Amino acid sequence: MIFPFSTNGKKIFASLKRNFMTFPKINYENFKSLISEQEIDEFQPEMDRVCLMLEKGTGPGNEFLGWLRLPSSTEDDILCDLEKTAREIQNSAQVFICIGIGGSYLGSKAAIDFVLPNFYNQQANRPGPEIYFAGHNISSDYMADLLDLIADKDVCLNVISKSGTTTEPAIAFRLLKEAMEKRYGAEGARDRIYATTDRAKGALKKLADQEGYKTFVIPDDVGGRFSVLTPVGLLPIAVAGLDIRGLLDGAKNAESIYSGASSIRENPTCLYAVLRHLLYSKGKSIEIMASFQPALGSLMEWWKQLAGESEGKNQGGIFPASVQYTTDLHSLGQWVQEGNRIVFETFLIVESSNREVKVPKFEDDLDGLNYLAGKPLDFVNEKAYEGVALAHREGETPNMTLRIEDRSPYTLGRLFYFFERGVALTGYLMGINPFDQPGVEFYKKNMFALLNKPGYGKGNGS
Ligand code: PA5
Repeated sequence: MIFPFSTNGKKIFASLKRNFMTFPKINYENFKSLISEQEIDEFQPEMDRVCLMLEKGTGPGNEFLGWLRLPSSTEDDILCDLEKTAREIQNSAQVFICIGIGGSYLGSKAAIDFVLPNFYNQQANRPGPEIYFAGHNISSDYMADLLDLIADKDVCLNVISKSGTTTEPAIAFRLLKEAMEKRYGAEGARDRIYATTDRAKGALKKLADQEGYKTFVIPDDVGGRFSVLTPVGLLPIAVAGLDIRGLLDGAKNAESIYSGASSIRENPTCLYAVLRHLLYSKGKSIEIMASFQPALGSLMEWWKQLAGESEGKNQGGIFPASVQYTTDLHSLGQWVQEGNRIVFETFLIVESSNREVKVPKFEDDLDGLNYLAGKPLDFVNEKAYEGVALAHREGETPNMTLRIEDRSPYTLGRLFYFFERGVALTGYLMGINPFDQPGVEFYKKNMFALLNKPGYGKGNGS
């Protein structure tokens, strides 16, 4: 369907036909015993309805739809400022610490781990600073170890909080600010601290203004878990030396090919949402995202927050989990193969590695591995994936595969947008507001009362 409000519908439709099923490539052959093609097609009218809600902004949570147009609307001035600031940080810091929790750190960590080499922080010829994250826990040991690590290194901080009032990053920032001020003095520390927060409100905004920190703005209409393509994600990603324009170009490509059309057969975001919804309605209440590359571990953490906070409402929703294969085949693999049949699996496969490594040949063949001699590890990994997908299908864990080309910023930009749209559509199919997170407040109220925070009643904290 082409939406009536699409300004250049015909043009978009032509490009859809060419591009749609190319990213990501979705194979759901291993769902076939559970879901028929007819069932998928019967969802088309419902999909038309929820796509219209999203595009026209008539659904619940419509005040948080800024992410939909972020790729095409981010101004060049902002990008230039981010790149300039990133260069400043690269030139003055041996260590860069990104302080934030939830949507305020998972996206940048996902991007940095996805694109950069494994063991980046340990690389001798690393082009930029070592990168660490803080403020996503309240662990005394984690913080003390981090403070030790930076004791004799030049440091820059980026403190990120949309509300500006979140406890975990506020505590981490207080400790790191104190360490910076001891080291550089108040003036010197000020030039090494960057704040990303709301345009006008919150304690962090007030503090940043008072201290004179350089500040980047999180748009009002973009929620935390949808904010990776705002300065929340873009500044740390640029500091890591990644091409933020390439990342946004990928997202822009996704925005242009996914927006304005709702055909399940042509739009992978619609197909992904319908498949998930159908599986959920058949009792598959856990989605396990599985990758065969350690570099995708943090991306799966980002996806878990995106899906979990968006869809876990009204005592329902798919529980998002993740595994890293083949590592977890030797731990959780048994459960996925033969445990409770309430799971489905989504394999996220990168088609080409950055570097090729082949199995060497040993004359004595004592380990019996010569049958693999000369074979690239990618070949072995692909066969492992094929074997797992088949075994799990036979074990009644239905699985689909999303294939992406590579670990480039461009591909990642497309993927971020794909998941954001896919999760938003699933939420609307489920009849919930995918853009709020009221449940997150409950633990805070108890914790604050137990800590005797003013205004939260008397707890029994000491
Ligand atoms: O998606 C969300 O809105 C949340 O996960 C937030 O990102 C998280 O709670 C951190 O909030 P803040 O950026 O306000 O510190």
